[in-house]
Amino acid sequence: MKTQRIVEILNSAAVDTDIVVKGWVRTKRGNKNVAFIALNDGSCMRNIQVVVDLQKISEESLKPITTGACLRVDGRLVSSLGAGQGVEVQAEKIEIYGTADPETYPLQKKGHSLEFLREIAYLRPRTNTFGAVLRIRHAMAYAIHKFFHERGFYYLHTPLITASDCEGAGEMFQVTTLDLNNVPKTETGEIDFSQDFFGKACNLTVSGQLEGELGALSMGQIYTFGPTFRAENSNTPRHLAEFWMIEPEAAFYELDDNMELAEEFLKYLINYALENCREDLEFMNKMWDNELIERLNFVVNNDFKRLDYTEGIEILKASGQKFEFPVEWGCDLQSEHERYLVEKHFKCPVILINYPKEIKAFYMKQNEDGKTVRAMDILFPKIGEIIGGSEREADYGKLSARVAELGMSEQSLWWYLDTRRWGSAPHSGFGLGFERLLMFVTGMTNIRDVIPFPRTPLHAEF
Ligand code: 4AD
Ligand code: MG
Repeated sequence: MKTQRIVEILNSAAVDTDIVVKGWVRTKRGNKNVAFIALNDGSCMRNIQVVVDLQKISEESLKPITTGACLRVDGRLVSSLGAGQGVEVQAEKIEIYGTADPETYPLQKKGHSLEFLREIAYLRPRTNTFGAVLRIRHAMAYAIHKFFHERGFYYLHTPLITASDCEGAGEMFQVTTLDLNNVPKTETGEIDFSQDFFGKACNLTVSGQLEGELGALSMGQIYTFGPTFRAENSNTPRHLAEFWMIEPEAAFYELDDNMELAEEFLKYLINYALENCREDLEFMNKMWDNELIERLNFVVNNDFKRLDYTEGIEILKASGQKFEFPVEWGCDLQSEHERYLVEKHFKCPVILINYPKEIKAFYMKQNEDGKTVRAMDILFPKIGEIIGGSEREADYGKLSARVAELGMSEQSLWWYLDTRRWGSAPHSGFGLGFERLLMFVTGMTNIRDVIPFPRTPLHAEF
């Protein structure tokens, strides 16, 4: 007989049928006559209750069934008299696939701290919280593809190994097959990368944008969705060394079009979660963040506030707030500043535009004032920056002048600069940090708790 997922069984509630369920034991309780086993298979938050008549199946044979054990249950689906459940399984036969010794199995019934669960990240998907987070993560990945597909954006697979540094911040993981105990040197004493696998120095990409722009300048509208890597040594609740980013890039989009796309995109995703992940969101709301669903609804139903960086700085300076990092025109905004604007001042998401060129990447379109660029950051409550993007510099002369000014290597960017020589076009794009989105949607406050296996400084377990 076909195994059914618990979510299907509970939703169909096809009583008086024979079924097979397979899953992991959450709890077992009972008395002399009957045992109740709560089984979960990861398909939804809810467990299915297995009722065992001890006249039919001996208590002795149930002994190895403890929290964490994996079972196959053949039985009959019947209406349940118990509160809070429509149906339950009357077991005819139970097969134990794997036991879980209660002396050693770390996930016993009591609630565990998120810190503890991080140490056992290989088991935490078996908890209600991580089951919910990972189901929401899946739903958001699906909705991202759906959103872009519906709007005629093509999914472009950009490389993970590159020889360029898109953000110019030097936060790259090197990729090499050179023998680190015996690194070949040139006559002038530098590392001889010509002997390396790719014949030059390479790294894991910090962003798919540069190649994404090539896609936009040929296919019109593309998006990337893949892992990106940053060797920034920042141990914060918002930074990962390996995170997933979604980067749409569109020809003929100016900054306003870019802002509109980004706002529509975020609202679409949040709305998708509200409509499709209700049970999991309600659990997260109850367990971790009582204002979660209210906040999600608020963002879906209200316009984002758009303003200039310069105005933002004026508001921060006039706020009378004591910030850890002082605010001056030209400074990069810290998360405390971003959150002040969003949570205290405007009380809604903010799109901040036209940043000083010194604190933004080389590729952004330069404004006529000579000081600012057409950047846009989207700032969210609780999160701070969730999206970073811009209109791109489409003028060959201005772009190569900026590359030279920043001392970047024109050699490694020749192909990128070439797009501005032949058929250049206005174009724009942005990057959404997938885990930042998930923090917002799930209410989790540490980014390590929205990715299955977090990578942060000194942590690459599992
Ligand atoms: O602002 P960033 O650095 O922008 C770019 O990489 C551009 N190339 C995007 C583009 O225009 N196509 O990063 C974009 C987003 C941030 O807003 C943030 O949400 C997320 O990526 N992000 C991180 N998320 C987790 N851990 C980190 N270390 C992150 N760094 C950036
Ligand atoms: Mg940024």
